[in-house]
Amino acid sequence: MAIEEGKDPGPVTRTRGLPVRLLLILLMFLVLCVVFSFISLNTFRRFGFDGGVAGVIKPSYEPCIGESSGLDQWIRPPSNLMHTMSDEELIWRATLVPGIRKYPFKRNPKVAFMFLTKGPLPLAPLWERFFKGHKGRFSIYVHSMPSYNKEFPPSSVFYKRHIPSKVAEWGRMSMCDAERRLLANALLDISNEWFILLSESCIPLYNFSITLNYITNSKYSFMGAFDDTGPYGRGRYNGSMAPEVNITDWRKGSQWFELNRRLAIQIVEDTTYHQKFEAFCKPACYVDEHYFPTMLTIQAANVLANRSITWVDWSRGGSHPATFGKGDITVEFFKKVRESGKICDYNGRNTTICYLFARKFAPSTLEPLLQLATEVFSF
Ligand SMILES: *[C@@H]1O[C@H](CO)[C@@H](O)[C@H](O)[C@H]1NC(C)=O
Ligand SMILES: *[C@@H]1O[C@H](CO)[C@@H](O)[C@H](O)[C@H]1NC(C)=O
Ligand SMILES: *[C@@H]1O[C@H](CO)[C@@H](O)[C@H](O)[C@H]1NC(C)=O
Ligand SMILES: *[C@@H]1O[C@H](CO)[C@@H](O)[C@H](O)[C@H]1NC(C)=O
Ligand SMILES: *[C@@H]1O[C@H](CO)[C@@H](O)[C@H](O)[C@H]1NC(C)=O
Repeated sequence: MAIEEGKDPGPVTRTRGLPVRLLLILLMFLVLCVVFSFISLNTFRRFGFDGGVAGVIKPSYEPCIGESSGLDQWIRPPSNLMHTMSDEELIWRATLVPGIRKYPFKRNPKVAFMFLTKGPLPLAPLWERFFKGHKGRFSIYVHSMPSYNKEFPPSSVFYKRHIPSKVAEWGRMSMCDAERRLLANALLDISNEWFILLSESCIPLYNFSITLNYITNSKYSFMGAFDDTGPYGRGRYNGSMAPEVNITDWRKGSQWFELNRRLAIQIVEDTTYHQKFEAFCKPACYVDEHYFPTMLTIQAANVLANRSITWVDWSRGGSHPATFGKGDITVEFFKKVRESGKICDYNGRNTTICYLFARKFAPSTLEPLLQLATEVFSF
């Protein structure tokens, strides 16, 4: 009867006693439920914690919808460069290195162009032309004063390529730290194999194909490093840096480097030399001229070309190199710049191409540079 009533609570069969009976059934059901859940909770506890049956507990982590559970998530470059990691967290993350050399997927090695700037990039249109048609072979990173407002349209190669930045001062450790920050951010993309440091006043001297060939086929990384025995070289060495840094290891070079991935990681993960240079290389010891060349000479001298691929003119004297303006930009000028190195060593052979980039160029040079680009640089 009760079951039938439950099945078909028609108006005809309804009486005064029915709701009370229903309530009783519900109550019994409730009590059963409580008892049952109490028992099951206890069993769960006993097996889950005392019994140690790991299989009883489901893993709390399950992939969210849209998140890949394949290799993909480990090799995809970060979609947003403006992460919220601190420098300490970033450096830790950037120095996670695979223990196996061979990549189990088709890796397309790229060149990271890292721009260390104060703010705007007045020569950006020239660089846009340089990069045009080479998507997938390069990536761009920009470090600027934190107060600077980024201004690039979505069509630009510089769009959303700024990294979290801090103030960097010439000749101070904050400058080296900015360079390490650029390297660390670029290391997050596993496809980046070569790392070039540039400034807002730098220009390319050759087209992308020639530049890429030169860098990717070199057995050496282009870090300027020479042993200057004078007062502006070894004269800046402080004996307290020994034994980690011996005076015979002391090197000088311009900061505008090109490094392979292994050397980039070595620079980012360094704590030993960083400490020494921070404590004992302060103006008039300009740390950005000594830290990386000296450190890499100690750790990896055999893979350094010991020369920079960024041309600069010191012939006018003084503590700053020459800055070129609108009037300097002629075909003859670039012929001179390109031939100024005469002959350089490249993988043990002589080459007439010594420099791939040049500085320093004022914003006013943009128009004449764009006009000459095809004729002079082939891009
Ligand atoms: C080395 O650096 C320390 C700390 O800055 C300084 O006290 C000392 O005079 C320096 N020594 C030389 C030889 O410059
Ligand atoms: C450090 O330099 C001195 C010369 O100043 C040299 O005699 C010595 O062998 C060097 N030590 C190391 C460990 O390179
Ligand atoms: C660069 O200099 C180091 C010594 O500082 C040397 O061992 C290395 O062979 C040099 N590199 C080239 C390409 O000559
Ligand atoms: C490279 O050029 C120099 C002259 O600048 C010459 O002495 C040297 O023998 C040349 N090296 C090679 C490998 O041709
Ligand atoms: C790059 O420049 C070289 C030398 O000027 C030229 O032969 C080559 O065609 C250029 N490459 C492209 C893709 O324009």
